[in-house]
This record gives sequence, C-alpha cells and structure tokens, in this order.
Amino acid sequence: MTRLGVNIDHVATLREVRKVDYPDIVAAAHAAISGGADGITVHLREDRRHIQDQDVIRLKQVITVPMNLEISTSESMVDLALEYMPEHVCLVPEKREEITTEGGLDIITHRVKTAQAITKLQAKNIQVSLFIDPDLKQITTAAELGADVIEIHTGHYANTRNKAAMLTLIEKSVEHATMLGLEVHAGHGLTLGNLPPLAVMKNIKEFNIGHAIVARALENGLRSAVRDYKNCIQKALKSV
Ligand code: PXP
Repeated sequence: MTRLGVNIDHVATLREVRKVDYPDIVAAAHAAISGGADGITVHLREDRRHIQDQDVIRLKQVITVPMNLEISTSESMVDLALEYMPEHVCLVPEKREEITTEGGLDIITHRVKTAQAITKLQAKNIQVSLFIDPDLKQITTAAELGADVIEIHTGHYANTRNKAAMLTLIEKSVEHATMLGLEVHAGHGLTLGNLPPLAVMKNIKEFNIGHAIVARALENGLRSAVRDYKNCIQKALKSV
C-alpha cells in the first residue's frame, strides 16, 4: 500500500503568525495519524519560520509513526538531525526569501555537501531521502551518492497545464530510480485533483502532502469551529 506522509508545517505557520501556543502541533500530528497518516513530515527551516526545535523534540517523543525531518544540507542542520534522531531525513534546498521549497536540490552542483550529509546521517541509521527534480542525471547522482530514497519534486507537475508531458517525465524518472535501486517518494503541490495519475504509478511508494491537506482541514472544519464559538457565547449569556 502506498504510504501518505502528512506535512504539518502549516499548523506551525499559523501558530507563529501570533507567536502563541495554538494550534497545537502535537494535536495536529495525532489527528493526522488518526486519519491514517503513515508518517509525519516537518521541515525545520534555518529561519525557523514555522516548525521550531521544540516541535521536533515533542513530536519525536509522542508520535506513533515515523518522523520525516526535512532539512537543508548545512552542517549545523545535519548535526541537529543527529541530535533529534528522526527515522527519516529528507535533504531539501533552502533559500531564505522563498515562499516554499521552489525546486529540487541540485545534487550535481552540491555533490560534496550532499555526500557528507548522507554519510553522517546513514552512520546513525537514519534513512536519507533527496528531494530532487524528475531529472535522470540528478537521479543517477542520487544513486552514486548512496541515497536510500529520492523524493521527486512534483511542484512543476502541479503548476503546469501540460500535465501529460510532466507525467511522462515523472514516470521515466520513477523507472530510472527504481532500476538503480532507489526507493521513490513524491511531493509538493499535490491535491485531490492532481494526485490520482501519480497514485496509480507503479513504484511511487510514498507521497508527502502538506498545504492541500491543511487547507482542506480548514474548509471542512470552519463550520463546526464557528458553531463552537456561537455556542460559547450563548452558554455564557445563559449563565448570567
Ligand atoms: N515534500 C517536500 C520535500 C517539501 O519541501 C514539501 C513542502 O514543504 C512537501 C513535500 C509538501 O508540499 P505541499 O505543502 O505543497 O503539499
């Protein structure tokens, strides 16, 4: 069965807008797990714009499914991952000014740094995934560097009108990676609308989805949240 990793960064994004302690990231993780999440994904960014170190520590203590920690390849982030010991690490590119991860990690340009990160993490039995574009040269490099997994960046697929061409490219990439012995995951920009053609693709073992799931939770949950507040006002009025 294909796994679903749920990225809960946006729960922390909402909390950090106010710098308060809600919405609670642990409650969100429990809700995601009770909904069937096979893994919890969090991106500990260098700028700490959403997930904080304490979130990673708390989540690691309580979640009952594997944690997939997304980090940049910087030495300090890799050292933190070794301290927090998630089951999986996904190495991603990071630019301070970006709204979200905008493309795959270029592991040809950043070959040495990526190789160093992989070696350090695997030495502690952490499974290492590389978030890369559906590009055969990048995939070959991922295998040469000894990565366990590649996560194919599906953002371009999600954004293009020419879905057929991108699907062909992704399919070829999955085939190439599988032939090289890499496990294949996919993620970024996936929605209920664009997921099905990827979900039926042989050999994609896991999807990581965040924004669309958190958006759907809001759409589905707003009605009952408003009802709770109306009830709260009515109850208070009745008590006086
Ligand atoms: N996979 C990786 C490596 C990511 O960086 C992200 C975004 O944080 C996702 C998956 C999830 O993307 P989205 O939030 O668009 O579903």
